Amino acid sequence: MAFDVDAVSQALPGRFLLWLEQTDSTMRDAARLADAGCPHGAVVGAEHQTAGQGRHGRSWHSEPGAGLYFSVVLRLGLPNENLPIVTLASGLAVAEALAQFSGLAVDLRWPNDVLVGQKKISGILLQQQQEALICGIGINVNQAGFPPEIRHLATSLLLETGRIFPREPLLAAALQSLDRHLEVLQQQGRTAILRLFARASSYVSGRRVVVEQGDQIVRGVTEGLDEDGFLILRRDDGKRELILAGGLRPDAAE
Ligand code: BTN
Repeated sequence: MAFDVDAVSQALPGRFLLWLEQTDSTMRDAARLADAGCPHGAVVGAEHQTAGQGRHGRSWHSEPGAGLYFSVVLRLGLPNENLPIVTLASGLAVAEALAQFSGLAVDLRWPNDVLVGQKKISGILLQQQQEALICGIGINVNQAGFPPEIRHLATSLLLETGRIFPREPLLAAALQSLDRHLEVLQQQGRTAILRLFARASSYVSGRRVVVEQGDQIVRGVTEGLDEDGFLILRRDDGKRELILAGGLRPDAAE
C-alpha cells in the first residue's frame, strides 16, 4: 500500500517531512538537507533504499514498502561528548514507540539495537554532519521474511505477531517518542537517560556477552554504564574494560 505521508504530517503539524519513493540512503539525503540549513527535526524517509547503511559499515536490508527507513536531522546544540547519550536516547525512543504500538516486549542491546527476543527489529545509525546529527532509523514492520544471511538475526512486527501494521502511525509515534526522549536529555540531563536505558535493557548489567571490536573478540559480564553512556565490561581475565564501540552479542556459553 502507498505510504500516506499526509497522514503523518497531520499528526505532526509543522514538521519538515520529505518522503521519497526510492533513494540510495536517507542518511545521504538528510546530510544534504542539513547542509542546506534545514530545521531541527526535519525528516527524510524512503519506501526503498538501494544502499541502506548500517552500523560498522554494514548494509541495511530495505525491502521496498515493507519497513520504515528514515533519517532525522537533529540540532541539539549539545557538546559532542553527548553523542553516546543521544545514541542511547534514540534507541529508547524507538523501543518505547514499538512496544506501545505493537504490545510486544522489546529489549535494547547496547548501544541502540532494538530487539524482540534475540532478534533485531530496529537499528539506528547516528552520524555527525557539521554541527548537526543525523539519526537514521530502520524499523522492520511488514517483512514476511529476510534473506538467508540475516534470517537468524532479524525479525519484523509481522513475523512476531502475524499481523500487518500501518506504517504511518508508527512513524508518527517514533518521531514523537524521539522528541520526548531528547527533551528528557536536554531538560533532565544525561543521568535520566542512563537510568531509563538501564531499566529498559537486559544487556546493561550481569549479562555474559561477546564484544567484537574489529578482529578482536572480548568476553565478559556487563557491569552497567559509565556517566558518558559507555558500557562497562568485567572481562573474563578480571580486568574492567570500557566498551566504546563494537558489536555485542550474548555469549553462547551463557
Ligand atoms: C544498524 O546497523 O543497526 C543501523 C541501521 C540503520 C538503518 C537506517 S534505515 C534509514 C537510515 N538510512 C540508512 O541508510 N540507514 C539508516
